[in-house]
Amino acid sequence: MTAPLSRDSLQDLGESVFLPAEWQGAANTPLDADTAFNGFISTHVVFALEQLGLFAWFDEADRLDVPDYCWRRQLDESVFRHLVSAAEAFGYLEVRDDRVTPRPAWGELRRKIGFFTWGVGGYHDVFANAASIARGERAFGKDVLRDEGMVALGSAQADMALMRNLLDEQIAALDFAVIADLGSGISERVCRLVKSRPGARGLGLDISASATALAAGTVERHELADRVQPICADVLDVLFRGRRIEGADQVDVAMSFMFLHDLLVDPATRSDVIPALRKAFPRAHTFLLADTTVRPRGENDTLPVFSSGFELAHALMGVPVYTREEYENLFHEGGLHLRRTIPFGAPHTYLFVLEAQ
Ligand SMILES: C[S@@+](CC[C@H](N)C(=O)[O-])C[C@H]1O[C@@H](n2cnc3c(N)ncnc32)[C@H](O)[C@@H]1O
Repeated sequence: MTAPLSRDSLQDLGESVFLPAEWQGAANTPLDADTAFNGFISTHVVFALEQLGLFAWFDEADRLDVPDYCWRRQLDESVFRHLVSAAEAFGYLEVRDDRVTPRPAWGELRRKIGFFTWGVGGYHDVFANAASIARGERAFGKDVLRDEGMVALGSAQADMALMRNLLDEQIAALDFAVIADLGSGISERVCRLVKSRPGARGLGLDISASATALAAGTVERHELADRVQPICADVLDVLFRGRRIEGADQVDVAMSFMFLHDLLVDPATRSDVIPALRKAFPRAHTFLLADTTVRPRGENDTLPVFSSGFELAHALMGVPVYTREEYENLFHEGGLHLRRTIPFGAPHTYLFVLEAQ
């Protein structure tokens, strides 16, 4: 599953990175069949409840009245009752007649909801077609697609819940007037960072038309139309095929989140990606690059949320994923100085703070 990057000069950073205890996970393996089956159903129930607004509702209220909720949203009350009743069986909600209240486990789901949006909303077709893809009957990108908008939304939800404080700490220490986010999804992150820095401007580049359409809404919601520009663009065109992005030569800080692996798919250009990034953003003094890495295999018989899905989804799409050390080596060989590696909220996900030399 891991694509070979040159290991010739793997850096010895001489510095260990503290792994959060949560990354070990709480799912005991082997997952017995009862847990595995109920896990499949429960992820769909949780995603449905998110889509029906229950997480947002319980952020503001401590109870929900079923007939009133269904009437206001024009939901089929019978189906809704079955969904909340399933959630009760899984231990997430309590249902008493018409009244629904969250149980303590709801809070953890709320924090990790982005992984459900990502997995069920974004990759359901990819996972469901795993056997056909293995047999070569169907191929990702041709017969099987992911839902790009849901992938972007799930990433934004994970950012809000798990990563934003860690990033804000790093951003606070940086000087910038113009910031670019590559693979920016719905542009939530670039809007937030620009908003918090008076006078700053931002670019958000994403290949997906649906994510860019959602990004236009994000910019409008933040009232940043004159300062943040979402651009539908393939970053590989910018790096290797001469596409010019207006303002790229003014960018002080270039960032990418959960996207770097997408730039490294082609082995022929893999080692050129970091030098090409530096060339595409010639004034950038800092690169903030975050990505999920391959979960180190060890003695543990527990699994965290996300890692298994991240690795399998990318294998089904034919996109290699990398270890932390492989990334650090790629940066070193590309001429970026690694100032810091920071565990970044989601399991086995790191923020690499890099300086242009
Ligand atoms: C996992 S999402 C991450 C989104 C966002 N960075 C975040 O963390 O919330 C990866 C994003 O990269 C975009 N993407 C994939 N390949 C791309 C390419 N070649 N050029 C630009 N964007 C790309 C996808 O459309 C998607 O929005």
